[in-house]
Amino acid sequence: MISYREGNELNVDVVTDLYRASTLGARRPIEDRERFAAMIAGANLVITAWDGDVLVGMARSLSDGCYVSYVADLVVRDSHQKQGIGRELLRQTRKRAPKAQLVLLAAPQATEYYPRVGFAAHPSAWMLKPGEPL
Ligand SMILES: CC(C)(COP(=O)(O)OP(=O)(O)OC[C@H]1O[C@@H](n2cnc3c(N)ncnc32)[C@H](O)[C@@H]1OP(=O)(O)O)[C@@H](O)C(=O)NCCC(=O)NCCS
Repeated sequence: MISYREGNELNVDVVTDLYRASTLGARRPIEDRERFAAMIAGANLVITAWDGDVLVGMARSLSDGCYVSYVADLVVRDSHQKQGIGRELLRQTRKRAPKAQLVLLAAPQATEYYPRVGFAAHPSAWMLKPGEPL
């Protein structure tokens, strides 16, 4: 039985452990504790999934509450994948801001996932990485 909670008041070590337990750990700066803590603190729409007292999933978004919610991370512990937790995290995220569209960049491992749960690819997504000239 998985329970879902809203809020970013989370122990950074517990969240680090979750990211380590999935492939997303290699794609986020989890070794930089201060920066990772700031990523959690700076997200204003965070839904977590719990198996008892074990954190098994998280959707970390930045939302204006009415137009767009940017899903920065969606992560489910390897041991708990393919049980509907990722989809439920997205549902719960959308429930908090039902008029907002969900926007995200897929990790390479998840490019087949998002169409499966209903997302459409956008033909003009653009990125400017830190330090790149502007
Ligand atoms: C991608 C991820 C969040 C999916 O979470 P999940 O809880 O395993 O997914 P769900 O159980 O909600 O799956 C919903 C459906 O998608 C399918 N699915 C799950 N992972 C998939 C994948 N990587 N590729 C294609 N389909 C996938 C499931 O089989 C299920 O299909 P069904 O509706 O026919 O039963 C999870 O695998 C994960 O954390 N991966 C590592 C981190 C990552 O890449 N995150 C994305 C960052 S953008």
